[in-house]
Amino acid sequence: MAEDKFIVTPWEVKGDVDYDKLTERFGTSKIDAELIERMVQHTGELHPMLKRGIFYSHRDMKWILDAHEKGPGFVLYTGRGPSGHTHLGHLMPWVFTKWLQDKFGVELYFQLTDDEKYMFGQDLELEDTKRFAYENILDIIALGFDKDKTHIFLDTEYAKTMYNIAIKVAKRVNFSTTKAVFGFENSTNIGSIWFTSMQAATAFLPSELKGKNIPCLIPCAIDQDPHFRVTRDIADKIGYFKPALIHCKMLPSLAGSDKMSASVSSSAIYTTDTPKQIKKKIGSAFTGGCVSVEEQREKGGDPDVCAVYQYLYYFFDWDDGSLNDRKAKCRSGELLCGHCKQYLTQKVTDFIVDHQEKREKAKELVEEYMLRD
Ligand code: TRP
Repeated sequence: MAEDKFIVTPWEVKGDVDYDKLTERFGTSKIDAELIERMVQHTGELHPMLKRGIFYSHRDMKWILDAHEKGPGFVLYTGRGPSGHTHLGHLMPWVFTKWLQDKFGVELYFQLTDDEKYMFGQDLELEDTKRFAYENILDIIALGFDKDKTHIFLDTEYAKTMYNIAIKVAKRVNFSTTKAVFGFENSTNIGSIWFTSMQAATAFLPSELKGKNIPCLIPCAIDQDPHFRVTRDIADKIGYFKPALIHCKMLPSLAGSDKMSASVSSSAIYTTDTPKQIKKKIGSAFTGGCVSVEEQREKGGDPDVCAVYQYLYYFFDWDDGSLNDRKAKCRSGELLCGHCKQYLTQKVTDFIVDHQEKREKAKELVEEYMLRD
């Protein structure tokens, strides 16, 4: 592992991520109070993910606000690699993206990289990643994105349009750059080496479709930033603006540290889980508690390392008063892990049950959102 003892690439997150160091490593800027204030002037409210520093880093966000204030406006772009069902960690940036769409009233392009997950996934066939893409689309629609302003596509199905943009990118990115940025080797398959051109292409898609240069803002988890560093480097060579970014941290795994991985099923809660599965997963989550009740009553727990606390912090308890109270009571030994687990189980179950109803209804709506060529 690198000297900082954590690894973050688009395909691997390992160790305890130091998010401040990561912004230095990647060369991004932290979101400061001034930027938050400027955003709030437009949105009229402070999103808890901004307030809590979950969305915490950016590139060129001020330029996006300028473009919104003075013209020519901007569009949003985000995506999903369909390697499996959607879990809560994926929903986090999408929820924020929807908020941005609502508050700024802008269009959103949503890319599903079934090609990526096929080329990188050792056990995944193309039929699998396509099938998961359509499963994931139900989750996207269930969140309530504006039907008239949201355009969803699969790389393999929107290939004619995408290919024509991606080759413009590919021509300007050389092998040594991808090796340095992504750690590829001579044994890496050439589809994987090419792939970043597809992820970059979507940043220019709205401009291509509208026939004019239009600023693009990409909300995403910070592990995706390397793709967009490459994108930004070549943007003006093909006559487009560099895309701007707003980055979030990654939802920790229920098993403690690391990003919630879709491949370790017990460490993540999926939108397709039953209440029984949710109860079981949260029941065996990693906490900051002691081995015995007596010891915990005496010494207290440690919310900072507790996955249950992290879930409340990142997603399920936006009330600062209640959350701080819980933290204090955990530290003092007044509150035991069983209680917090039960509380979180209720919150997650309510959310998922409601989401699943919307997910069912979404099945009728898919084509209304799809971008086809
Ligand atoms: N590579 C991303 C993943 O594995 C999917 C993706 C494509 C994406 N375009 C994006 C994610 C833009 C965020 C923003 O999930």
